[in-house]
Amino acid sequence: MQLSDKKVTLSLSDGGQAVELPVYSGTVGPDVIDIRKLYGGTGMFTYDPGFMATASTESAITYIDGDKGELLYRGYPIEQLAQQRNFLDVCYLLLNGDLPDAEQLTEFDALVTNHTMVHEQMYAFMQGFRRDAHPMAVLTGLVGALSAFYHDSTDIANAKDRRTSAIRIIAKMPTLVAMAYKYSLGQPNIYPRNELSYTGNFLRMMFATPTEDYHVNEVVERALDRIFILHADHEQNASTSTVRLCGSSGTSPFAAIAAGIACLWGPAHGGANEAALQMLEQLQAQGGVEKVGAFMEQVKDKTSGVRLMGFGHRVYKNYDPRARLMQETCKEVLQALGLENDPLFKLAMELERIALEDDYFVERKLYPNVDFYSGIVQRAIGIPTSMFTAIFALARTVGWIAQWDEMLTDPNYKIGRPRQLYVGAQRRDVPAER
Ligand code: CMC
Repeated sequence: MQLSDKKVTLSLSDGGQAVELPVYSGTVGPDVIDIRKLYGGTGMFTYDPGFMATASTESAITYIDGDKGELLYRGYPIEQLAQQRNFLDVCYLLLNGDLPDAEQLTEFDALVTNHTMVHEQMYAFMQGFRRDAHPMAVLTGLVGALSAFYHDSTDIANAKDRRTSAIRIIAKMPTLVAMAYKYSLGQPNIYPRNELSYTGNFLRMMFATPTEDYHVNEVVERALDRIFILHADHEQNASTSTVRLCGSSGTSPFAAIAAGIACLWGPAHGGANEAALQMLEQLQAQGGVEKVGAFMEQVKDKTSGVRLMGFGHRVYKNYDPRARLMQETCKEVLQALGLENDPLFKLAMELERIALEDDYFVERKLYPNVDFYSGIVQRAIGIPTSMFTAIFALARTVGWIAQWDEMLTDPNYKIGRPRQLYVGAQRRDVPAER
């Protein structure tokens, strides 16, 4: 970051001394006011619940312009990456800062492929979970347990260890997600096959059985790979901030990623893809397109507690570029699989059409987000609703680990420790008698 010529002067109405605060500029996007000396100079904290106006870090990984609806990974527009590259290219880009050439990609692919297996005892560890456990509960446990199985690469001060952990977690996530799925079905685990692509291998681990192999359909593989690319990183969202905060204490990278998975699970975040599909299914069961009007009235009624899931975003106040790409993929996949008349897709399109014309959504700048169409694509390729957020976690793992690594090498790195505005009881004594 660069010190700007601008300065902010904070003057206090009680006659206290004014404080001058430096301003920093990034390469693009809003400047930031450096408030690190504010408490020392005024005895006051800033108050920003939900971090509406707080930059918690500097970062060179992902940039979002929410008003324009623009998303860049390391400067490259998401549209170009989704159309021209695969997920492993994007993983390399997020981790290293630049796209790989052909040789670098081959090397990176071989490195990731070499780490796809998990310790055999992980399968025994999984037996402790109930079969009907939510896959995100199982995944949080499995990833946390990696710290116990792979503690030989967790010296966070060592760059080589950090890279080994990053490769391990990216390589093992598909295996762990597929394990959680197979366990929920009571089917035997399918081991990874290294001659397949990252995404093809995941599909096979999900859908093959010992009695019948799974032949990877190219359209399905490409669609899922695009889902992975679109979810790979999204700057300082709730789960990424969780990974950073958790990792800032110096904990194991796998423990920090497990914390991110736990955060992602919530319906306001990654859990929205599952909630969006459930919403569409319920609406379809109640009468489909004909009931859209009544449903929208419910969504707009603040007392109903109903939200249009897959709509709205803290940062995007324009169409989420990922949603546009996802809608395109949705059409391609449904057509390739002969599901052009999918009623849920029609219903989603109708909900979007009505919402984009409705004052409630227009005034609040609420547009479809990435989760609005991703569930329909996943359902079409055979992924059950309960696995949607686990797929999101698989894809976001690279973003989390790249951000964790960036934090640890940042010269301004400190343990995260927010302050508060205390509104509880003042000091008082415990009564001598009950
Ligand atoms: N349906 C109906 N009203 C909404 C919605 C929605 N989906 N989203 C926001 N609003 C209204 C909200 O009621 C509020 O209205 P008012 O100003 O009258 O009180 C206004 O829009 C601003 O909403 P907010 O909740 O203050 O905004 P936020 O930035 O705190 O929340 C959000 C962002 C994504 C949590 C929210 O839009 C939401 O709950 N969306 C549905 C869940 C969802 O799709 N989440 C996925 C986000 S994208 C993927 C990811 O990051 O994981």
